[in-house]
Amino acid sequence: MPENILIAVAWPYANAEIHVGNLTGSHLPGDIAARYHRLKGNNVLMITGTDAHGTPVTLAADKAGKSVEEVYRFYHEGFIDLFQKIGITYDLYTTTHSENHFKVSQTIFLALLKNGFLFKKTEPQWFSPGLNRFLPDRYIEGTCYICSADGARSDQCDACGNVLDPAKLVNPKSKIEGDASSPELRDTEHYFIDLSKLEPDVIKYLKDRADYMRDTVLGESLRKIEAEGLRPRAITRDLDWGIPVPVGEAGWETKKLYVWFEAVIGYLSAPIEWGQVSGQKEAWREWWINPEAKQFNFIGKDNIFFHTSLWPAELMGVGSAFMEIFAGEEVPLILPYDVPANQFMNLEGKKISGSRNWAVWGRDVLTRYDPDAVRYYLTVNMPEAKDSDWDWAEFVTRNNNELVATWGNLANRVLAFCYKNWDGRVPDVDSLRPADLELLAAIENGFHTVGAELEAVRLRSALGETMKLATLVNQYLDVNAPWSAIKTDKAEAGKTIYTALKAIDSLKVMFAPFLPFTCERLHGFFGYETPLFGEQYTETVKDSLGEHLVLRYRVGQIANLSPQWKPSELKPGTKLNQPGPLFKKLEENVAEEERARLGK
Ligand code: MF3
Ligand code: ZN
Repeated sequence: MPENILIAVAWPYANAEIHVGNLTGSHLPGDIAARYHRLKGNNVLMITGTDAHGTPVTLAADKAGKSVEEVYRFYHEGFIDLFQKIGITYDLYTTTHSENHFKVSQTIFLALLKNGFLFKKTEPQWFSPGLNRFLPDRYIEGTCYICSADGARSDQCDACGNVLDPAKLVNPKSKIEGDASSPELRDTEHYFIDLSKLEPDVIKYLKDRADYMRDTVLGESLRKIEAEGLRPRAITRDLDWGIPVPVGEAGWETKKLYVWFEAVIGYLSAPIEWGQVSGQKEAWREWWINPEAKQFNFIGKDNIFFHTSLWPAELMGVGSAFMEIFAGEEVPLILPYDVPANQFMNLEGKKISGSRNWAVWGRDVLTRYDPDAVRYYLTVNMPEAKDSDWDWAEFVTRNNNELVATWGNLANRVLAFCYKNWDGRVPDVDSLRPADLELLAAIENGFHTVGAELEAVRLRSALGETMKLATLVNQYLDVNAPWSAIKTDKAEAGKTIYTALKAIDSLKVMFAPFLPFTCERLHGFFGYETPLFGEQYTETVKDSLGEHLVLRYRVGQIANLSPQWKPSELKPGTKLNQPGPLFKKLEENVAEEERARLGK
């Protein structure tokens, strides 16, 4: 039975380009998982979009002296371009600035209100007398009252990672007005979600996942709840840009839903929008109502609280009320299955910093290197258990010694040798020898071992296991040396080549979630007529807010194929296509050149 798998990735803020840390943190692991489950024949929906609201975006616009809308659209379109170039196959990559997302978010708000989880409260908030408006927490910086670090935002300190109580910040200054500013606290009324009522449910939700949730995610989430408890949180803000609060009372027109409250709702609204644009209006239920469906939230560690506490709390608070208001049916939404959050990737030993240009930008790096070379290095270095480091010298050696030498050369030399000596066809063999069968059995077993690692979202290990199998094929070739055997016994050499081709054809499937571009080419060399994967394309969606570009994925020709995650069934005599090298060897001076670009 195919499983329904929702791959939901953190919504990137439209305030900066995406760098390698963002890619390896969430988009790439999400894509690897999505591609694996598609190859297995599962019913995959991979979604996210641009987080268009919130102060990181308005702050970027204020700094650039541009309208928020202009800044948001600029980054949104750049993200879509990057995801096409590096092959992040969203079934729908959309935006929170859509009529559909507004409506779904407002419905969640109303469902929580109906179920008694929201209350109104007046609290002091930072106000700028100079600008005559309330300022979002992020516009206020000062000294952290927990760890004493400077440059803490009033709602969160990056130095110690704590969420802060804005009113307690020491020596507050407004970011747009600078040192001379003297923001003051003024009273304002807001809606709060009463997370304390949901605390026991959230703890149970987390403990139910203890068997498989990463220690880094589960431990941090439970420790935080134990230390601070789940307290009520404001879910509205005094802002112009964002989603209106759906209460018809006076005074609320100038307020909007809090960005984190609504952005996580994108995991529900995007599948609904995907259904609308695909002409399958109700299909989103397969991933949201069906209790057998599995949802994965791929995120970076800075987003853990919002995904392991706030979002499940919102969903549990909503219960059946969302569907009651939205569709007139009393059925509950399901809860996410796992949150495989990654740690951070540093760059050359230092924290990535966009403002200091200490970063490797996604679109820029792809102008110099092939997408699979970048994907490979980002996967072998994925910060799954602890922070990792992008090191340019290591990028070169891993590319040359592993991708090119172990895997690329293996595929290329066997295919080229066969193409030349067997007239472009897979050799005819009558029987195989014990060593051939042994190699093929080891490869076949890889579908279980590598599959289990992928299933459990241990992607580094899955790729490492696959590379080990490639090494095994190289060893087999060293022993059987078809290049010299052909001179004395072509039939024996043919058995070796047939066996190696079959192994490579299988490894191609195992490598495909990680290295989709080159595996697709290799698939073509083997003469298959239908591709391994579908294709990405963009379209424009019009609604009452205007229009937005979306990225999509079309399964196309492969739709009718049976699952491809299985050992090769390559037949003797199959016609091959002219092969060519899959990867490029990099010069040693690459590291030096690349390091010279940093921090400029
Ligand atoms: N925009 C946030 C960030 O870049 C992530 C939001 S994830 C969501 O850190 F689920 F809340 F949308
Ligand atoms: Zn701090």
